[in-house]
Amino acid sequence: MPRGEAYEKLEHKIMALRTTDRTGDERQTMGEVFDKDTLLGIYKLMTDGVIDTIEYPISTGKEGNVFAAKDPHGKLVAVKIYRTSTATFNRIARYIEGDKRFQGITGSRRRVIMAWANKEFRNLQRLEDAGVKVPTPIRFHRNILVMKYIGTKDGPAPLLRDVELEDAEDTYEIIINYMRLAYQKAELVHADLSEFNILFYRRKPIIIDVGQAVLTEHVNAKDFLYRDIDNINRFFRSRAVDIRDREDIFREVTEVRE
Ligand SMILES: Nc1ncnc2c1ncn2[C@@H]1O[C@H](COP(=O)(O)OP(=O)(O)OP(=O)(O)O)[C@@H](O)[C@H]1O
Ligand SMILES: [Mg+2]
Repeated sequence: MPRGEAYEKLEHKIMALRTTDRTGDERQTMGEVFDKDTLLGIYKLMTDGVIDTIEYPISTGKEGNVFAAKDPHGKLVAVKIYRTSTATFNRIARYIEGDKRFQGITGSRRRVIMAWANKEFRNLQRLEDAGVKVPTPIRFHRNILVMKYIGTKDGPAPLLRDVELEDAEDTYEIIINYMRLAYQKAELVHADLSEFNILFYRRKPIIIDVGQAVLTEHVNAKDFLYRDIDNINRFFRSRAVDIRDREDIFREVTEVRE
């Protein structure tokens, strides 16, 4: 199978699992995060000198948990650990058994999740190379992604939704430009862009949570882009910004300038 095709297939499987997961209402407890394999993964990152100590949890999200950790030099890094063994996933595993759409997934949950951490790592790289501000990826191992910590020693940077913007127009334009750079240079659409997946640090937006980002050639890429634009417009309208027409933004993001 050609590489692009394999990537797309993997992407499809990951999207399917993710969508199903969203309907679940179980929330993971901290104790469930560090199953045996994850512990081994953390141990490996420690022996490799990527991290030294886990400091504190930053967030418990729908697909993973983010922790602040320190590297051997005492520098903070962010560690995102994807869930592998939750009640939710066990329920899904049962549910997808015998469902043709999920062929090949049953029993390989762990592999899919590992591929997901890998995918987020590569998406972060592509976006950074394209000039989009994201947390620099440092390393991934199995279901664990290590990236640059965004924040100060007093705590992680706040989400865009939680800040009072001094120059909301400027932030709005930067985000539109990031969508454009992502689309044109990284050939990616974020596909879950909103004020919940943008950090605000040193008065500038930083895009996070890019595991689900899709290639622009993905069949639903344009729909995802419209949804991203609508989310951003909705948020900035609520912040009294004179927002632009969605078609206008869509053209700017997708059309190559002469
Ligand atoms: N590099 C980072 N530096 C500091 N904080 C971070 C970093 N990456 C993520 N976070 C924090 O962790 C939270 C969850 O990260 P992310 O959105 O990537 O995961 P998620 O599994 O999608 O979680 P959620 O369901 O909350 O969106 C973010 O909202 C942010 O507050
Ligand atoms: Mg998120």
